[in-house]
Amino acid sequence: MKEIEVRKKYNIIAKRYHKLRTRGQGWFYNEMLEMPTTLKLLGNVKGKKILDLGCGTGIYAKILTKKGAKIKGIDISEEMIKIAKKENPKVEFKVGNMDNLPYKNKEFDIILAALSINYLKEWYGVFKEVRRVLKNKGMFVFSTSNPVIEVIKKRMYKGKKFRIVEDYFKECLLKEKWFIGSGKKITMSFYHKTYGTIIKTIVKSGFELIDYEDAYPLKKAKKLFPKDYKLWTNMPYFCTWKVKVK
Ligand SMILES: C[S@@+](CC[C@H](N)C(=O)[O-])C[C@H]1O[C@@H](n2cnc3c(N)ncnc32)[C@H](O)[C@@H]1O
Repeated sequence: MKEIEVRKKYNIIAKRYHKLRTRGQGWFYNEMLEMPTTLKLLGNVKGKKILDLGCGTGIYAKILTKKGAKIKGIDISEEMIKIAKKENPKVEFKVGNMDNLPYKNKEFDIILAALSINYLKEWYGVFKEVRRVLKNKGMFVFSTSNPVIEVIKKRMYKGKKFRIVEDYFKECLLKEKWFIGSGKKITMSFYHKTYGTIIKTIVKSGFELIDYEDAYPLKKAKKLFPKDYKLWTNMPYFCTWKVKVK
C-alpha cells in the first residue's frame, strides 16, 4: 500500500480506531497482546528521550510519559496526530514519514515503532534514519506481526477447518478487511517480510539484536476476551524486536 493510501485510510478510521483502543479494557490485539510485550522490552524508560514512529493517537505517548519518559511522536496521518495532540497536550507530535525524520542527529535514547514499520515496503530507509537520530548505544524497539503466522490461511478439507502456512518466502503486500462501523469495511494492507529479511536488515543497518519476544496475552484477557485468549496463547500473533546501535 502506497504511503498516501495508508495516510488516507488512517485518516478515515482515526476516531473509531482511538475509541476501540481506549474504551473499557481496550482492544485485545493491542492492549492485551502487543503493548504488554513491547512495554516489557522497553524496560525502565524514566528520564529517557523517546521517539515514537507511527505514534498513532498517542496511546504509547501517554503511558510512557506517565513512566517518566520524554516523548516525541511522528505519524503519517494528520487525523491520528490530531487525536494524539488532544490526548497529550504537552507532547510534541509531527505529521511525517518515518523514513525521513525531522529530528537532529543523536537526539534520542530510544526509538519505538509499534505495529507501524510493516506499512513500509522498504525498511533500510527507516533503519538509516533511526540510526542517525539515535544516540550511541541507543535502542530501537519495534513490533511486527509474526512473519510466519501472518501468512497462515484458513482452509477447509473434508468438512474440517485447517490453518496452513502459504507462500512464506514470497514477500508481498498482505490485505486485511477491517470493520469500520455501519456494516462498512476498509481494506488495510501491510508488507510481509521473512525472519531472514528482518534479521539481515537489522544487521546490515549497523544494529545488533539484543532481545526478542513473542507476544503472549495478559492473564486478564482470559475472562475479557476468551476466544482470542485461547487462540493467541497457542500461536504468536505479534513479536517485538529490541536492537541496539553497534
Ligand atoms: C496500527 S497503528 C499503530 C499506532 C501506534 N503505534 C500504537 O501502537 O498505538 C499504525 C500507525 O502507523 C502509521 N504509519 C503507517 N505508515 C507510516 C509511515 N510511513 N510513517 C509514519 N507513520 C506511519 C499509521 O498512520 C498508524 O497511525
